[in-house]
Amino acid sequence: MTRASVIVDKDFVLSDLDRRVFGQFAEHMGRCIYGGIYEPGHPTADEDGFRQDVIELVKELGCTIVRYPGGNMLSGYNWEDGIGPKDKRPRRLELSRFVTETNQMGTDEFIKWCRKTGIEPMLATNVASRDLNGAWGHVEYCNIRGGTTMSDRRRANGFEEPHNVKFWCVGNEPDGRWQIAQKTAREYGRIVAEAAKIIKWIDKDIVVAASASSNRNMSHYGDWERVVLENAFDYIDFLAPHTYFKNNPDTMEFFANIDLMDAYIKETVAMCDAVAAQKRSPKRIMLSFDEWNIAARWKYEDKFAKKGEWPEVLPLIEDVYTVEDALLIGGAMQTLINNGDRVKAACFAQLINVIAPIMTQDNGPAWRQTIFWPLSLASRYGRGRIMRQTVSSEYTTTKAAADIPYLVSTVLHQEEEGQTVVFALNRNLHEPMDLTVALKGLGATRILATHEIANADLKATNTRDNPDNIRPGTITDVALEGETLSARLKPASWNVIVVN
Ligand code: AHR
Repeated sequence: MTRASVIVDKDFVLSDLDRRVFGQFAEHMGRCIYGGIYEPGHPTADEDGFRQDVIELVKELGCTIVRYPGGNMLSGYNWEDGIGPKDKRPRRLELSRFVTETNQMGTDEFIKWCRKTGIEPMLATNVASRDLNGAWGHVEYCNIRGGTTMSDRRRANGFEEPHNVKFWCVGNEPDGRWQIAQKTAREYGRIVAEAAKIIKWIDKDIVVAASASSNRNMSHYGDWERVVLENAFDYIDFLAPHTYFKNNPDTMEFFANIDLMDAYIKETVAMCDAVAAQKRSPKRIMLSFDEWNIAARWKYEDKFAKKGEWPEVLPLIEDVYTVEDALLIGGAMQTLINNGDRVKAACFAQLINVIAPIMTQDNGPAWRQTIFWPLSLASRYGRGRIMRQTVSSEYTTTKAAADIPYLVSTVLHQEEEGQTVVFALNRNLHEPMDLTVALKGLGATRILATHEIANADLKATNTRDNPDNIRPGTITDVALEGETLSARLKPASWNVIVVN
């Protein structure tokens, strides 16, 4: 048995939770768009070619905002190719994956899909293979009501009302040698500053995200953030880090990715605030963690078609996730929430088929991977105030992140509903955890619901033929006495307890 305790008090609040942390990323990559979102001819496809079975699962996932269209493909993308009559749209070489982009889905279809699905769009605009005119036209096309060539093009394409996209990303991973038109920090810092400036001149209500280093292991990590911020601080609202957790045969080392992500967030916030201090500025740059996931089974060559073949659709990195992966994703989601005073948006990468919680078969069914469950439960219950916590937990030692506590906990209070939600990951692989949570002044009187993700086989998966192998259960041993919640959490389990 391992023990852990948490104390929260009504008066000690970190921040309100921004529900844009339950975002997702949908790239023109593999079968995320073609065969995932868009498959005309599929038995569930609607008049726009959108798979309804997928829309239902995306709604159940509880996704709030979706970043589109890339990703690495963004750096060679002409958004104008994806508007207007579909039979006139150009076919282009897509140089980030050596495939052919048919442009059958583009900005207008994406916005339509978002509206049908109840999701806020987050658009990324290309400043790699294009100059600022591309970004200018993109924003003008989307957000100006009419009376200019670009906005009237949108109206002529059947969209009388502006798309009103309020969250824009400028570029993608511009520091990577794998990127079309890779840039130095100064080159990118200047471009993102000028792009953000004109984007906001077109629509003052837009918020702009700039790319952080592609990951925490880039050799220029830290310098990149400083130089980009020194150039663009006055114009941008968000810095956008990415992380793909590496697999590790040692499960505790794998789980230490949660602590590494926490450190990554805190370091990036410190870099933003250091530049604010240099400038004597009260402005605070927020984080949009706009790509995060496990990249456990990627092989470098799996990300591309063979050079010279240029297929239209190429299934890529359709990883099958395990229970162990679901536990890590649950804990990482908590880390984003626990840093919610500065993490105001996040996009799980990616939404469908490509390292995704939702899988589809062409002309066949759609199903939920194991990682679907922590993401959807976190969104279902994730709202309100993030409580500050005093946590006490036994530790274990890892190579990746030194001492790590077995418990990862999160407490949210929803005052209007009189409801409090506890997310708790027990990282002890062998022992149950006796957890107590002192909910001081939160008015809890009864347990409303519990959910538990656990399985004796940490490598168990959901597949097309066995899609419900892993589903959440409930916690059997849980009680509320006075203001103290107590629960016995299974070894290696991710848990939700709701009280009111
Ligand atoms: O999500 C897959 C790829 O990972 C994205 O295109 C890129 O931004 C990142 O390197």
